[in-house]
Amino acid sequence: MKLWGGRFESGPSEVFQRFSWSLHFDRRLFAADILGSQAYARALARVGILQDSEAQAICDALASIPEPPADAPDEDIHTYVIRLLKVNAGALADKIHTGRSRNEQVSLDTRLWLRGEIDRTTALLRGLMASLLDFAGKHTDTIVAGYTHVRRAQPVTWAHYLLAYFEMFARDHQRLLQARARVNLMPLGSGALAGSGFPVDREGLAGELGFDGVTLNSMDVSADRDWALDYLSAASFCAIHLSRLAEDWIFYSSDEFGWLDLGDGVTSGSSLMPQKKNPDSLELIRGKCGRIFGSFTSLFTTMKGLPMTYNRDMQEDKEPLFDAVDQLTLSLEMTRGVVETTTLRPAPPLQAAEDGWLVATDLAEALSRAGVPFHQAHQLVGRLVLESVSQNRKPSEWTGEALHAFDPRFSPEMARFMNPAEGMKTRTAPGGTAPATVRAALAAAHSRLESMS
Ligand code: ARG
Repeated sequence: MKLWGGRFESGPSEVFQRFSWSLHFDRRLFAADILGSQAYARALARVGILQDSEAQAICDALASIPEPPADAPDEDIHTYVIRLLKVNAGALADKIHTGRSRNEQVSLDTRLWLRGEIDRTTALLRGLMASLLDFAGKHTDTIVAGYTHVRRAQPVTWAHYLLAYFEMFARDHQRLLQARARVNLMPLGSGALAGSGFPVDREGLAGELGFDGVTLNSMDVSADRDWALDYLSAASFCAIHLSRLAEDWIFYSSDEFGWLDLGDGVTSGSSLMPQKKNPDSLELIRGKCGRIFGSFTSLFTTMKGLPMTYNRDMQEDKEPLFDAVDQLTLSLEMTRGVVETTTLRPAPPLQAAEDGWLVATDLAEALSRAGVPFHQAHQLVGRLVLESVSQNRKPSEWTGEALHAFDPRFSPEMARFMNPAEGMKTRTAPGGTAPATVRAALAAAHSRLESMS
């Protein structure tokens, strides 16, 4: 069935059908299309186009429509629903499209569907954040090497490292909620582009369908998909963070690092090499990120330069949006699965923190606290490191006396800063890695997470 026909002498060609029909993917909007159509039937009754009993009959008929079968011969989900409505409700169904266009219907359906998916995404994100906090709770005093330029930089606690990701995901959560606010506006009553010729109660429809408000310009409704791009943008940020965590952990679980032990359930073996335990889950999380960016780029590019208002190009919004939702939600679930089954072996990262002169900054700061101007302290510790490296001498091999003998500006008691746990205690400014500060940040993160749900 087609929703037009009077104007045409022949139907679409076979190739045009295959090329343009979208039911095989927009079937995902089925539930939203039914809900929206029921609400619209009630709205039509309120303006006298339908009797109350007719609206009720239409709603019942809509409720009994099954999911489209694989071989449904319809252009898109809206056409399918109308065809079945006619089967179930007869001529009454001819009134449902009064003043309504598929252009607003597709916006409504996609918004309804996406709103639900945003709620699912944010719930999964909060679950992941909770698992990061659990892991952090076990390691508020576990020292690891922190890196810049993939070079050992300064000691931090593992909890502090995990809380960095908590912050990134908290911002992603915020961005998703901001996207939700722009998605959750009710477009019905916009017609094809010029607005409805019937005084439908748009606010009432919005309230009934759980929207926060109504869209304010009918041409804007037909023309734009920026709210879908808002989701794709937030999804891309979140995917970046997942991908970077995956990248870290692929390295941290390698033989070279030996910090992390990934659970058997999230790793794969090799068909040839018996010893292998590969981090495929993390690699796929990293890989999905590229795919999500692809969806983001795809829709951005589709929208660029489209003339006002609706153009059929916009049907290309759905597959990237659906795929991004699928890949992001799966990646969030997978990442949580990895976090929950990963353990940290404390010895290798501690050794990395002890051996690599990560305490150099702590020493320079101890000197400057004792009155040595920082640039001179920096210079002095630099010389100490140079000398130690050439003698292959680790920080722990310096006694207080040896240090004082190296340069009298070192007091013997400064040797305690050769232990990475010492300097760390000084980093108490909010946001720093002092274990007491991290414990407070962790407690705060728990209550922030609580208030997000
Ligand atoms: N399947 C179309 C889409 O997804 C529905 C809107 C069709 N509107 C039209 N004027 N052809 O965009």
